[in-house]
Amino acid sequence: MACLLCDDTGWRPVEDNGTRRVVRCDCWRESVGRQRLSEAHIPKRYQHCTLANFAAYNESLERAVRQGSRIAEAFPVVSRGLFLEGQPGVGKTHLAVAVLKQVIDTTGARGLFYDTRDLLRVIRSTYDPAIRTTELEILRPVMTADLLVLDDLGAEKTSEWVDETMNLIVNTRYNERRLTIFTSNYPDIPDDTEPNSLLFRIGFRMRSRLHEMCEFVVMDAADYRERPDNAGSEDLVALWKMRKKTTLPSPRGGRSARAQLRDGKGDLKWSGGRAGS
Ligand SMILES: Nc1ncnc2c1ncn2[C@@H]1O[C@H](COP(=O)(O)OP(=O)(O)OP(=O)(O)O)[C@@H](O)[C@H]1O
Ligand SMILES: [Mg+2]
Ligand SMILES: [Zn+2]
Repeated sequence: MACLLCDDTGWRPVEDNGTRRVVRCDCWRESVGRQRLSEAHIPKRYQHCTLANFAAYNESLERAVRQGSRIAEAFPVVSRGLFLEGQPGVGKTHLAVAVLKQVIDTTGARGLFYDTRDLLRVIRSTYDPAIRTTELEILRPVMTADLLVLDDLGAEKTSEWVDETMNLIVNTRYNERRLTIFTSNYPDIPDDTEPNSLLFRIGFRMRSRLHEMCEFVVMDAADYRERPDNAGSEDLVALWKMRKKTTLPSPRGGRSARAQLRDGKGDLKWSGGRAGS
């Protein structure tokens, strides 16, 4: 059925103090949003994710949701993205996708989701002459997307090529002031000798850019994947407290904590990266 407001032209007339003009019809925004959403590469597993169905059962999660909503509601008038850090299963990818979806949905912006390792694999595969996309065909949308989610930063194996490619992506987005949401398992501790630190994984230059581009938010919570069926928020709180108790310090945790204190940054928020992977 044709749209009653615009007869499917995408423009509908409005009257403003006696003068008639046309504006974009809601049906247009909705159909662009749908189209853009299908082009955003959001993995099936995360397509259900919204800000509304994210359980914020402690302060760190509340803060993360607040920061996510700040972007989702104000986009495109937002100057800083997000860096969500925390242990596996705390909901980093969920929250990043939720913001991405809402932004695309409400503004029709060009949004894109990529797992960092997948992205590098895809770019690398374009070196294969049998596959006829060029490196830039993949890179351009990543560099120019209105909102990019780069999931699991730091998990990629480093090499000179990886460093160069990641720097190109981040640098371009930094220079053009494009919004990016990163997630990572690696804690942002100021210790470049600790193999599980973000700094060790991505280097000084990249970390410094990220701090200018993003609000850093530590998500300290339970592994949602381990929750019992029909778990309520008390169960999640209990699981989270148990995790706090049983988390082993990283191999150099003591040293890192001292380094933190020396730098006046207080206690380590959480220790270790993704253990065993
Ligand atoms: N607070 C929450 N409320 C509702 N669902 C959640 C919450 N946290 C996690 N989930 C769900 O649990 C699953 C795992 O969460 P997610 O993948 O976002 O964790 P993650 O922090 O990205 O973990 P990883 O570090 O392993 O990538 C997802 O299906 C997600 O939707
Ligand atoms: Mg994740
Ligand atoms: Zn219409």
